[in-house]
Amino acid sequence: MCGIVGYVGGKNTVVTLLDGLKRLEYRGYDSAGIAVVRDSALLCVKEKGKVACLEEKITREWPDWMEMTGCTGIAHTRWATHGAPTHDNAHPHMDGKSRFALVHNGIIENYAPLKKRLQEAGCVFKSETDSEVLVHLIAEFYDGDIFQATASALKKVEGTFGVAVISLEQPDTMIVARRGSPIVIGVGKNENIVASDVAAIVAYTQRVIFMDDDDIALVTKDSIDIRNIDNVPVSREVSSIDWSVDAAEKQGYDHFMLKEIFEQPDAVANSIRGRLDKANVSATLSGMNMNPREMAMINRIVIAACGTSMHAGMTGDYYFEDLAGISTQVEQAAEFRYRNPIIEPNTLIIPISQSGETADTLAAVREATNKGATVSAICNAVGSTIARESGRGVYLHAGPEIGVASTKAFTCQVTVLLLMALKLGRGRRMSREAGQQILDEVEQLPELIRQVLKTADDVRRVAEKYADMQDCFFIGRGYLYPVALEGALKLKEISYIHAEGYHAAELKHGPIALLEERVPIIALANDIPGKDKMIGNIQECKARKSPVIATATIGDTDIDGHADDILWIPQCSKFVAPIVTVVALQLFAYYVAAKRGCEIDQPRNLAKSVTVE
Ligand code: M6R
Repeated sequence: MCGIVGYVGGKNTVVTLLDGLKRLEYRGYDSAGIAVVRDSALLCVKEKGKVACLEEKITREWPDWMEMTGCTGIAHTRWATHGAPTHDNAHPHMDGKSRFALVHNGIIENYAPLKKRLQEAGCVFKSETDSEVLVHLIAEFYDGDIFQATASALKKVEGTFGVAVISLEQPDTMIVARRGSPIVIGVGKNENIVASDVAAIVAYTQRVIFMDDDDIALVTKDSIDIRNIDNVPVSREVSSIDWSVDAAEKQGYDHFMLKEIFEQPDAVANSIRGRLDKANVSATLSGMNMNPREMAMINRIVIAACGTSMHAGMTGDYYFEDLAGISTQVEQAAEFRYRNPIIEPNTLIIPISQSGETADTLAAVREATNKGATVSAICNAVGSTIARESGRGVYLHAGPEIGVASTKAFTCQVTVLLLMALKLGRGRRMSREAGQQILDEVEQLPELIRQVLKTADDVRRVAEKYADMQDCFFIGRGYLYPVALEGALKLKEISYIHAEGYHAAELKHGPIALLEERVPIIALANDIPGKDKMIGNIQECKARKSPVIATATIGDTDIDGHADDILWIPQCSKFVAPIVTVVALQLFAYYVAAKRGCEIDQPRNLAKSVTVE
């Protein structure tokens, strides 16, 4: 959940590291720090708060920082787990003699006994973090070989790590290692840059090496030597990143979230490109790597995911049951491994994760794999751990999603799920006609989303009218039920308004007790099956004096007189309605948060990728 950058080469080290940190700030932003080896000294500056605060402090403490070229350096932006966000708890951490500096992502589970032993041996700890034990261990093991010292230290720890280490002893060398927390090496010319995320690397090179678990790399400006933790050389291929640095910049938008909302017509177009099999009225999803017979054998699907990805999975549940007739269950990934899941030979496990690094979803993949299941992941981040460990799956090709609030990943995930259901359905009982209808609608999706985006100013006006609310409910039915959950999640995470998503029918079973004039209802009342019942639910809310904001289909007069405000959605079937409707709710959340002056791209307490349990 934190961000790591490391650089070795001839450029200005501090500028390069700060640039990388800014690109990774969406990973964590409660404190940041940097360490460089310069003129026989290991220099370190850390600061509470955002990278901008660190930059100010560097300017004060290192007046010549713009001349710091050719140094080896590491940097970190933190999302606190062990210990509050303070100066001392910020990374890098150094050993007692300031010979080694280390940045760490992940959790060292056995840090307490290690710390106790190290303290008994005379080590003085400056932080409350679990990470600091690692740097003291490296110093303890060092006997002339930084690689061996790091390997020996890492063998002592239980848990997850992505680490980068520099030292006074080998000033031109950086060591990086990973287990369960990503590290990517950007391969440059006379320079190499490492990071926990390609977003920090693409400005320098699009050639990257994704490290595997228990890989340790010794990186200099012109060499990358990767071995496993037992010092056996391993070979890792160099991959190409298919997006450029522009994709990870705001390009004139006030926030990444808004940019990503507006990117959705293109993102969805990229998700479907080359995947519409018009000849067979099906979908081409070669990454699933299953032949028709294997597909036909699937008799149960289990989707494991968290947050927004889980809401996408809940929509997939409707698709798989409706279109393919396959019994489907959606699991909170955090529960999957703890509830002894039933996995039979013909069960297909679908993990869904934008980042491909979410700890609970990854653990579900591992549990399912250990039980011999067929796993086919839906991920956005190419080369991510979940994508690689699943071995098969479908990439979204949505481009980097930087805003902490997931938007384009959701619409692309649901689109891919619809294509999967089409493929599985066509391999079973779905007629060509029914399949053709899905294909036509999927092809229309970018245009349908564009039409919603054109209403952004109308959505903004409604959002601003309700921006002072303290509580609200999103209600939906059928295909729009998961969208209600997603709309509520979007609103709460960026505006801090207490928002809950409910099935409309569930209101009467308790939450209706909370309704009154200060509690608006966002009712998803598009003209799809279930609308009549939804209008009844809206009346129940109105009777309790709740103001109602409805989504409704353009031209539908049945909604007249029922809602106080309407977000208009273009005419579309129930299959694509979730994808189209959620865009209006994303805009609604965005404009409410903007009106309230919230930090939209970096909401409090949140980080983009949750790599701890
Ligand atoms: O990277 P993932 O899709 O696995 O992330 C899952 C959730 O952490 C994520 O969707 C989270 O709920 C977002 N902040 C929602 O906007």
